[in-house]
Amino acid sequence: ATQKLWGGRFTNPIDSALEQLNASIQVDKRMYSEDINGSKAYCRVLILCKLLSEEEGNLICEGLDKIETEWRENLFVIKDNDEDIHTANERRLKELIGDVAAKLHTGRSRNDQVNTDMRLWLRSALSALEQLLKELVKIMVDRSYEEIDITMAGYTHLQRAQPVRWSHFLLSHAWNFKSDADKLDTIYKTTNVMSLGSGALAGNPFCIDRIKLAQDLGFEAITQNSMQAVGDRDFIAEFLFWSSLTGIHLSRLAEDLIIFSSKEFNFIEISDTFSTGSSLMPQKKNADSLELVRGIAGSLFGHCSSLMMTLKGLPSTYNKDLQNDKDIMFSAFDKLVSVLNVICGTIKTLKVNSNECRNALSFDMLATDLAYYLVRKGVSFRNAHHDVGKAIAIAEKRNICISDLTLEELQSINEHFQADAVNVWNYEASIEQYQTIGGTSRNSVIAQVDILKKWLCRH
Ligand code: ARG
Repeated sequence: ATQKLWGGRFTNPIDSALEQLNASIQVDKRMYSEDINGSKAYCRVLILCKLLSEEEGNLICEGLDKIETEWRENLFVIKDNDEDIHTANERRLKELIGDVAAKLHTGRSRNDQVNTDMRLWLRSALSALEQLLKELVKIMVDRSYEEIDITMAGYTHLQRAQPVRWSHFLLSHAWNFKSDADKLDTIYKTTNVMSLGSGALAGNPFCIDRIKLAQDLGFEAITQNSMQAVGDRDFIAEFLFWSSLTGIHLSRLAEDLIIFSSKEFNFIEISDTFSTGSSLMPQKKNADSLELVRGIAGSLFGHCSSLMMTLKGLPSTYNKDLQNDKDIMFSAFDKLVSVLNVICGTIKTLKVNSNECRNALSFDMLATDLAYYLVRKGVSFRNAHHDVGKAIAIAEKRNICISDLTLEELQSINEHFQADAVNVWNYEASIEQYQTIGGTSRNSVIAQVDILKKWLCRH
């Protein structure tokens, strides 16, 4: 085997099975640009404390720029001995500029380097996810506004409950995604702290200016304990928990839409572009897009528990177990990006069957309104609820709808029922009574649309 960067004290070469297991280059090469930017910034502070001459520093930075171009243009050749992105870049730097390259790693360790690279990478990943979530919310908000007049059956326990606007239902999911996007601010703050300058574990012995270094790399703060810094993966854990929760929100939306797209409900039709067919049953059109979204939510939580299990019980500072963190982080990100793209397209292109949504309504879903009628006549809600329950029981026994009970029958249950009780049997009126902030009335839904639109305009 060829010489390792750390090979000085070794006599025998590394076992090939271990070499394979130990190599992370195929995963962490994804951070090539973060690794190079971190190195360039580190090089600049080394110049400031005279560990590198200006000339040497410039040589190193130019070399690093060349390496970045090679990666970007797919010309970088990974060698057998390139263990990870850090060693690969350093090996290549030496090839390009000669022995000066060997000065770059002065006082630095791959332990603070990898931690810094990941923070840099995650910073931009979080911004990309925020944009996707906003796109999703925008699609839902636009539909909600255009389709505000569509009424549908609302469910609790998946049993018919009360009439609501389709828009109110759609926005109920949009609010979750807004909250997911808002939470990214906190994760960004946790992530945007610089660990570089912590060395392997003890700190930096050359008094490099960490504050300048952090400013250079756009970090808002720096870590205050080098031992804590090199073993810290809290920012990734927070990201993975956030991904799981976002995945759960996506999955619950997907599940609603899968149910609504079944012929039994037929509230919506998923477009051909976001469905697939069956190899056996010619008539089939399956909502695979949504099932994939629902399924991937499970893996996202798997990624979260995977990192948690890796961290649990690790001794202080850096341990090689941590090398797995990048695979987990990238994979959670990639999965989220692909499901967000698919759900955006699915929602944008699905068709609402407004007639079916409305036909699903029945007057028994206004039983609560009949109780509210009695409340408005001065009856206590508990008694009103009980009496309407009796009316439902009578109607069920006679196999008719509650709205078909005669006034006499109603009055035999409660004398407060009068001729105007028939006004209760009106879906629009029912929906419109929910005027309070957060309700399903037209004004309340439009207010939600307005708030979400304002939120979308920020940033
Ligand atoms: N490639 C390693 C990782 O991704 C970073 C190197 C730290 N290695 C070490 N032997 N201290 O975690």
